[in-house]
Amino acid sequence: MNGGEGPRSFYAQNSSLQRSAFEAQKRLIDEAIANNFDYTTITTSASNKNLITIADLGCSTGPNTFIAIHTITQAIKNHYYHHTHEPLSDHHQNLEFQVFFSDQVSNDFNTLFKNIPSNRSYFACGVPGNFRGRLFPKQSLHFVHSASALHWLSRVPKDIMDGSNCRAWNKGRIHHTDAPKEVGEAYEAQFKEDLVNFLNARAEEVVGNGLVALQIPTSPDVIVADDEEIHPARVFELLGSSLMDMARLGIMKEEKVDSFNLPIFYSPIKGVKAIVEENEYFSVEKMEALNLENFYSVPNVYTFVSLFRVVMEDLIKKHFGGAIVDELFDRFTQKVLEFPDIMNPKKLKIVMLFVLLKRKM
Ligand SMILES: C[S@@+](CC[C@H](N)C(=O)[O-])C[C@H]1O[C@@H](n2cnc3c(N)ncnc32)[C@H](O)[C@@H]1O
Repeated sequence: MNGGEGPRSFYAQNSSLQRSAFEAQKRLIDEAIANNFDYTTITTSASNKNLITIADLGCSTGPNTFIAIHTITQAIKNHYYHHTHEPLSDHHQNLEFQVFFSDQVSNDFNTLFKNIPSNRSYFACGVPGNFRGRLFPKQSLHFVHSASALHWLSRVPKDIMDGSNCRAWNKGRIHHTDAPKEVGEAYEAQFKEDLVNFLNARAEEVVGNGLVALQIPTSPDVIVADDEEIHPARVFELLGSSLMDMARLGIMKEEKVDSFNLPIFYSPIKGVKAIVEENEYFSVEKMEALNLENFYSVPNVYTFVSLFRVVMEDLIKKHFGGAIVDELFDRFTQKVLEFPDIMNPKKLKIVMLFVLLKRKM
């Protein structure tokens, strides 16, 4: 994710889709805490009985993470009040929150902490590391949140990079749309391995009855008609064909494009459902597709392109070098203009899936 504060690179200015998803998710977080936050069990397991620990995994640089944490802490305070039935002021003074903002070591934590709300009602920490593995001590977290992050794979599925495995080799593309089915299957297998690792690590870290609220960008199980419903990975097809155009013009070698694939997967909803239901440590309390229509509209092509540029630019620079980036995104912009339906949120079927899990005792 691009850090810094330039107009094109600053995640905060180019994360309106993620922000809308969080607005749409707010009601579900409130309900999740009101119906499932087991205050008694949680506080008796900690040495400081008034300390609630919360982690946001894949927090990026803000401000969405701050909005998420504000919603979660407010909802817990409200719940605490209803639970204890005692005057708000006394108990609010006792309740303390420790919030862990966590992301990859390469995340721009300086920008994150520079923008952290000054009037916050929690103690803040940064936790660098890969959320596919352990990040926290055993049974130390009461609430885990992660939004718009689990569709990132830990690596490009290795079979699709292997020129000798001709069915799965993803020549001439950078993703699985329009590819042999083996390419899609390799992406699906990597997504499964990654989500299982994520859940198993959280199973160690979350206290009994603790909650894990995930918002995962997914795709519908079935795309009905191509002109009415567009698979979200089609965006990557346009980017891939822009790269291939540049290779044909000799701006880069075709092999360089063949060896580049995006480590992103919008799993079908049923894939996520199967993985979370199979997990023995958590019960699934809720799964709901967020309705973004009231929260999100794409104003113009440049905003649309920026939404994707901010998350992909770093990867592209690492593989192809920085010199091609502006031309690539100019070409991508032209392709989007030729296929404007792809910007229409009613047609581009990114399904933001809300999943609420509770750690079994
Ligand atoms: C699109 S941003 C979402 C940021 C924020 N949660 C939001 O909703 O606006 C995805 C974030 O997930 C982080 N991420 C992806 N894979 C990760 C991993 N394996 N471990 C930790 N963070 C990861 C990325 O670094 C990036 O900051």
